[in-house]
Amino acid sequence: MYTQAMDVAPKDERKVVRSAEEAALEARFEARIDEGAFIEAKDWMPEHYRRTLVRQISQHAHSEIVGMLPEGNWATRAPTLKRKAILLAKIQDEGGHGLYLYAAAETLGTSRDQLLDALHSGKAKYSSIFNYPTLTWADIGTIGWLVDGAAIMNQVPLTRCSYAPYARAMVRICREESFHQRQGFDSLLVMMHEGTDAQRAMVQDAVNRWWWPSLMMFGPPDKDSVHGAQSARWGIKRISNDDLRQKFVDATAEQAKVLGVTPPDPLLKWNEERGHYDFGPIDWDEFWRVVGGNGPCNRERLAARVKAHEDGAWVREAALAHARKRATRQEAA
Ligand SMILES: [Fe+2]
Ligand SMILES: [Fe+2]
Repeated sequence: MYTQAMDVAPKDERKVVRSAEEAALEARFEARIDEGAFIEAKDWMPEHYRRTLVRQISQHAHSEIVGMLPEGNWATRAPTLKRKAILLAKIQDEGGHGLYLYAAAETLGTSRDQLLDALHSGKAKYSSIFNYPTLTWADIGTIGWLVDGAAIMNQVPLTRCSYAPYARAMVRICREESFHQRQGFDSLLVMMHEGTDAQRAMVQDAVNRWWWPSLMMFGPPDKDSVHGAQSARWGIKRISNDDLRQKFVDATAEQAKVLGVTPPDPLLKWNEERGHYDFGPIDWDEFWRVVGGNGPCNRERLAARVKAHEDGAWVREAALAHARKRATRQEAA
């Protein structure tokens, strides 16, 4: 899925120009960015651009992988074979998204081991949305509709990101995210239009719990966004957090009507003059609490990730042994 909280960065990152030669390289780099050119892995780039991308792409990769966990909770309890097959395919897609993105981050000179160490030690961030629990089957449809829906809004502009390996990964990811959003909406639509009162109540309850955290997925308001301006200038972030959030609210408020659910926001109202929906204030204290490690499931998610990594050690060892054996055979031939 999922970019978010990408504006959360170590405070020590400052732009430093070290020499005349580097200043010339940087001027050429900035000129290429200004003309809308893509930057490839082999091209010279300022250290701050590189670090910004490693941080953003790896946070994105971690989010895809951790995002498999809340849904995995329902893989054995999906109500029909069809829903189970769809859910398994979606979870597998998310794993694939993580792998494309780790590969894109590796082109910037940081190894996958380093990236995973940062995740497992709690140093790296991932999207805070995955620190909320999936309590009922309706949560799965709601995640598809709202969480993957928010992810698409965030990610479509990234297909034009100035760093080409990231942009290329995002093209493929966005196609799959659009399937994720539709399957979620479809699952909710069936429950709302063909289901029982209890199922409708279950959907409404899930929407009540996921609505606000989904709006938080676009990151802090523009006025508090630490890296927004620099990322915009570098062509990494093409649309601001607040503009994306508004776009998401405008789209989902209409979709909620089709479903027959009520978003839990008494201030949500079409504003004719602005041509957009108005919506109520977001609880940013909750956002920062969850980003800071104190959401409902932060510890559980991290522990599950670390365990999966440790349980998979034998696979990595076997793959390495196989590669060594093949190399020895090829040398002998
Ligand atoms: Fe997704
Ligand atoms: Fe994804």
